[in-house]
Amino acid sequence: MTNSIDLFRPGFHFTSPQNWINDPNGLVFFAGEYHLFFQFNPFGNDWGHMSWGHAISPDLVHWQHFPVAIPETEGIMAFSGCAVVDWHNSSGFGINNQPPLVIVFTGQNDALMRQDQRLAFSNDHGRTWTLFEGNPVLDIGIKDFRDPKVFWHEPSQKWVMIVVLADQLKVSFYASSDLKTWVHQSDFAPPNTTDRLWEVPELFELNIGNSSFSRWVLKVDVFETDPLGRIAGKYFVGQFDGVQFVPDNLELEPNWLDFGQDFYAAISWSDVPDGRRMWLGWMSNWNYARETPTHPWCGAMTIPRRLRLEEVAGRLRLVQEPVRELEALRGRLYSLPATSILEGSTTLEARGTKLEIVMTFKAATATEFGLKVRVGENEFTTVGYNLKHQELFVDRTQSGKTDFSERFAGKHAAHLKLEADELQLQIFVDQSSLEVFAQNGQVVMTDLIYPSFESDGLEVYAIGGTVQVTAQIWELNSSSA
Ligand code: FRU
Repeated sequence: MTNSIDLFRPGFHFTSPQNWINDPNGLVFFAGEYHLFFQFNPFGNDWGHMSWGHAISPDLVHWQHFPVAIPETEGIMAFSGCAVVDWHNSSGFGINNQPPLVIVFTGQNDALMRQDQRLAFSNDHGRTWTLFEGNPVLDIGIKDFRDPKVFWHEPSQKWVMIVVLADQLKVSFYASSDLKTWVHQSDFAPPNTTDRLWEVPELFELNIGNSSFSRWVLKVDVFETDPLGRIAGKYFVGQFDGVQFVPDNLELEPNWLDFGQDFYAAISWSDVPDGRRMWLGWMSNWNYARETPTHPWCGAMTIPRRLRLEEVAGRLRLVQEPVRELEALRGRLYSLPATSILEGSTTLEARGTKLEIVMTFKAATATEFGLKVRVGENEFTTVGYNLKHQELFVDRTQSGKTDFSERFAGKHAAHLKLEADELQLQIFVDQSSLEVFAQNGQVVMTDLIYPSFESDGLEVYAIGGTVQVTAQIWELNSSSA
């Protein structure tokens, strides 16, 4: 029997069959399989007993669940971290000439109020994991030292780890030849930062557009900015030589990754053979994650996104696009040829609770226009554009269930310019979420919503005049079907 509250369970976003999840961990590709580990509570539907849950996919869309990879052990919880393929067996953990998979995670010792970095390895394609007997491999005796991300730095022929000193708002760089012994290289701590905590750092190199020039992107997740209380990821663009990260420009406003409220702790897949840089994030927010009205599961991942670096209005921007593998979910298609929308709301023929919407608005005389999704009796969620403010927004104040937390309902906006009077949107709607990719991923907004299951209508609207719209709308299948 379906528990009515389980209706919020996403159709194609990753969730655990039951219990609490938060950050993605240890994303790695090996031998035809994408691994997704994640912060998991094996004993309940709230944060606690943090362990590494595990799932595997051949295509980033269909996931098979596996047993816990790293349990809480002797009072030490397994906090966030990463995984790599140790191709040359630098660690010596490999057997039979096969490269081992190595996890680097944070050990959280509540009794000692300490965090340190630890290893686990696998010689059976990630099915079983052994804790390294020499753990911890990096312990500097402090309380907030976590979320290591490790990668092989080809030019200097060594492993690099970035890890945060969370309450010092500092990213530390370490290097190693064997993953077991780590030597401090440098720190990155921009002056005058007023955030409360930095978590889950990430660092990778991307080509600029289609050129052969590249830059490095350093990402941190900010647990409460001051004075906005915002919880979200931001990034810096710069150079990295294996020792030190040097940002191109620190004077600018923060570069936010996502202008919604529900994209946190993203990390990218290691060792992807086709060279794509792809990531996903935890689709929630510490401001209300523990209150969200779902059961017997809590927490989901966003869809996987491909990352690029593009020059937009004279600045290098991280651009996120849904991975092409998601096209496998497409079912029935509704096409809307170029149509002029009059002032007011127009109901579309397409409807659904799991949709991919590709829509182009061409501004005419309207001062605001957009789309309402999950429309039902007295509820809807708006994705709109305000021409005067040059702002794209998601408004979830009337999206359905919002009263579980005072911090949930709201309108979230991002500055965005039209290109040749056009706004191009790609929107993924699932049972309890919305991901908006505007102007081919230049601006992204991810927001949770909890409408009733019957609210499946779609409307386009215009205020103060008309707008022209073209759309392709696919019903999406569940990834578990
Ligand atoms: C981020 C975070 C990490 C930590 C983990 C604990 O959401 O706070 O810094 O490792 O969650 O579950």
